[in-house]
Amino acid sequence: MKKPRGTQDFLPDDIVKLEYVENCFKEVCKKFGFKEIRTPIFESISLFKRGVGESTDVVSKEMYSAFNSREYYKYIKDKNLQTTSPQEAMQAFLSDKNRLTLKPEGTAPIVRAFIENKMYADTQPTKLFYNTPCMRHERPQAGRFRQFHQLGVEMFGVDSPASDAEIIALAYTFLDEIGISNIELRINSVGCPKCREKYNNILMEYLQIKKHNMCSTCLERLEKNPMRTLDCKSENCQENVADAPMIIDNLCDDCIEHMNLVKEHIHSVNISYTIDPKIVRGLDYYTKTAFEIVHSGLGAQNALCGGGRYNGLVEQIGGPEISGVGFGLGMERLMIALDAEGVKLPEQKRLDLYVVAVDQSCVTITTKIVQSIRKMGYSVDRDFLNKSVKAQMKYANKINARFTMVVGQDEIDNDKYTLKNMDTGDEHRLSFEDIDNMNEYVKNSIADILDNK
Ligand code: HAM
Repeated sequence: MKKPRGTQDFLPDDIVKLEYVENCFKEVCKKFGFKEIRTPIFESISLFKRGVGESTDVVSKEMYSAFNSREYYKYIKDKNLQTTSPQEAMQAFLSDKNRLTLKPEGTAPIVRAFIENKMYADTQPTKLFYNTPCMRHERPQAGRFRQFHQLGVEMFGVDSPASDAEIIALAYTFLDEIGISNIELRINSVGCPKCREKYNNILMEYLQIKKHNMCSTCLERLEKNPMRTLDCKSENCQENVADAPMIIDNLCDDCIEHMNLVKEHIHSVNISYTIDPKIVRGLDYYTKTAFEIVHSGLGAQNALCGGGRYNGLVEQIGGPEISGVGFGLGMERLMIALDAEGVKLPEQKRLDLYVVAVDQSCVTITTKIVQSIRKMGYSVDRDFLNKSVKAQMKYANKINARFTMVVGQDEIDNDKYTLKNMDTGDEHRLSFEDIDNMNEYVKNSIADILDNK
């Protein structure tokens, strides 16, 4: 059996690196005053339809919609759909507002939780961070997976341009702390609903004469959300919009001022940026600031981090009128970027002690010893396969244990054990006196040896 296409197994050595990066992200978020939130792996389909937008690729093509077969058959029976074609029945079932889907992104679920738990009633801002798996049915390629992980932040209840700059500074602080440097911030403003409507009309008019040269997806986009035609990867469509009017040149005064202040704040913390008028993002909820942090070692999928402001989203999902701003950073792309820059992350911590039991008669006391020393906070392992002493020592060497201790009948009878430092060969004598209730003196002696004092 093989893993599903577009997914990854993270093996123990990978986990050490992931944990290091995740902990670093947590620490940086806490330094900025953000608190962790966790939401379910699946949500109702309607959350993403309403939040992310029905015409986006993510919602219209890429969601993994989950359902229970019993529920499906009951639905068909209740709605009397037995005679319809299986495809139509499935379509009707999946478009039902109560259906579930695996989350394709982290923001909409957090907005749902923010509203459902009435977090808006607390003193604002609400500052949340998360680490979540996401699922999108995309064509897998380097840096693009069907299950990936987002490290993200969302800040609710502030309109100030300083908050847009604050989350960008958070992403930069985190990337700097783990050793990433080959990055570039690309920023744009996608305007507010007022200037967007005006701009969409201008763009629609501009693209009318280019319709014959447009892919079918962009023809649809032109009807539903013309600005998204700027994001098309097809060569013809890119040519169509090469000289098209850009939203950044059609912003209202309020959006211009917001953008200028965001730039000023970013500049004040020494983050350089380029204005990229073509950044429109693949999700419909953005207003004003939209940005991406790209990494030079990522190839075609170079967006390491994407985010921006989404002032209408809370209301759209059924909450009060409250603004939001945030970003999502792809963990898998981050690991590729770290490799590309040759950043060495901490390796697996070594085992403190391996306890070797000479034969079966020493196994019970070995169990007591390993458990007592683990309780003191050290990592301790032992054999379960009845291996010879030589084989156990070889294994201790292979796993790079720092110390070994042999437990034989002689050691038990005389309560005299030897802890061997595997790096220096130094040996330290030890008596337990009462293994079940080790006194402070014995505990301190063990700690002194294992801490190399
Ligand atoms: P997004 O740009 O769709 O934004 O995704 C954010 C990041 O997730 C990307 O920059 C990328 O690193 C990673 N990513 C996306 N798709 C894949 C994939 N198929 N394989 C591997 N990595 C991927 C969002 O999802 C927004 N929720 C971000 C946000 C938060 N905006 C405001 N708050």
